[in-house]
Amino acid sequence: MELPFAESYRIKMVETIRKSTREEREQWIREAKYNLFNLRSDYVFIDMLTDSGTGAMSDKQWAALMLGDESYGGARSYYNMKEAIKEILGFDYFLPTHQGRAAENVLYSTIIKEGDILPGNSHFDTTKGHIEYRRAIPVDCTIDEAADTQLELPFKGNVDPAKLEAVLKKYPAEKIPCVVLTVTNNTAGGQPVSMQNIREVSALCKKYGVALQIDSARFAENAYFIKMREKGYADKTIKQIVKEMFGYADIMTMSSKKDAIVNMGGFVAFKSEALWKKAQMFCIMNEGFITYGGMSGRDMNALAQGLDEGTEFDYLETRIKQVEYLGARLDEYGIPYQRPVGGHALFVDAKKVLTRVPKEEFIAQTLGIELYLEAGIRGVEIGAMLADRDPVTRENRYPKLELLRLAVSRRTYTNNHMDVVAAALKNVYDRRDSITRGYRIVNEFPIMRHFTVELEPAR
Ligand SMILES: Cc1ncc(COP(=O)(O)O)c(C=O)c1O
Repeated sequence: MELPFAESYRIKMVETIRKSTREEREQWIREAKYNLFNLRSDYVFIDMLTDSGTGAMSDKQWAALMLGDESYGGARSYYNMKEAIKEILGFDYFLPTHQGRAAENVLYSTIIKEGDILPGNSHFDTTKGHIEYRRAIPVDCTIDEAADTQLELPFKGNVDPAKLEAVLKKYPAEKIPCVVLTVTNNTAGGQPVSMQNIREVSALCKKYGVALQIDSARFAENAYFIKMREKGYADKTIKQIVKEMFGYADIMTMSSKKDAIVNMGGFVAFKSEALWKKAQMFCIMNEGFITYGGMSGRDMNALAQGLDEGTEFDYLETRIKQVEYLGARLDEYGIPYQRPVGGHALFVDAKKVLTRVPKEEFIAQTLGIELYLEAGIRGVEIGAMLADRDPVTRENRYPKLELLRLAVSRRTYTNNHMDVVAAALKNVYDRRDSITRGYRIVNEFPIMRHFTVELEPAR
């Protein structure tokens, strides 16, 4: 008999989570102004708000914490992190930051001027925010197929090289500080980018004299998909694939809370010593001295260990198979989601579920609230709320996709939890025709409103 698949770890420590009643959840979500970010985590049974910083560290990472060197300058932990970044990712120069958006802040403070253009594949919201805040323009060059949730493509996160070249041709190189390639493509559903596409994007960058930045939060998951799906990579190790991916990049920004499996941390890394030196001022001003930036020594140690563990095949196989397991459960119930299953999350196609909620009433947000009310499961809206308003006209932007993202934390929940998620979604799906009313905004920030927005039922 063939042995079934099992996780490549065992559990040493557990954390209690609590179920609640529907009446309690109705009160709590009302008090949270219908914003899932505002809920106390104690009011959530299965938390799928994000996979960012929510993973379980390993015994070796906890041990590494104890060995942290908290010296202000030249800490051992800094050199451990430097060694891991050089060894695993191939970058000589880096600046530690407290998380990914801080890496973006340091980088973009260094390279962006007002009016610049930054083409890429579905820039992540903080990336877009940092670009637009500087009055520069992110241009989305993702392949059109990414917007068709039912289309099964192995690399749905790819850049369309024709779209990218049109932008590179239209503007002079001085107006394009870099191309931003996000791996995996979070906003398009955690979809990977192929090595072939990375190579093509890099060739276009070289042709037009523009730098390539890889936004790398889930680079290891991307490498896993390359190994499993792209011809010529089946026999390569994840670490070999990772080295090749970053071989094409000039700069990387990293939210280490994802594929380096730490609770907090990030960095920006450079191939160019000159650019690294230029960026140091912004690191010192906004984060901290260049050998700790926004991180404590112990966290740099855990990050270095996490980079190593996060690029091991057995770990990645366990992780991705859990997301696939949830996808298989949803298939059983006929619930539509962005196909194929992404790396870190499942993205339910809210437009296909709640067909009677108008787009002006935030379809994916409405589905997120329904799922919370059903079983205390917290996902996150990737739709019109996140898309924000047009910075010039201030009109709401309505993206092609309205998705409810259910992020799976690393090494945290079991497949029994995934079964609960699938069953709760089925219950919502079964009563979908009775859900006709969404929400309207009562209060919002002028930028990145989704984190703090306050809502009330529409009509
Ligand atoms: C692709 C991508 N880039 C950047 C970030 C920002 O990282 P952080 O949340 O650590 O600031 C994220 C976070 O989710 C991300 O997914």
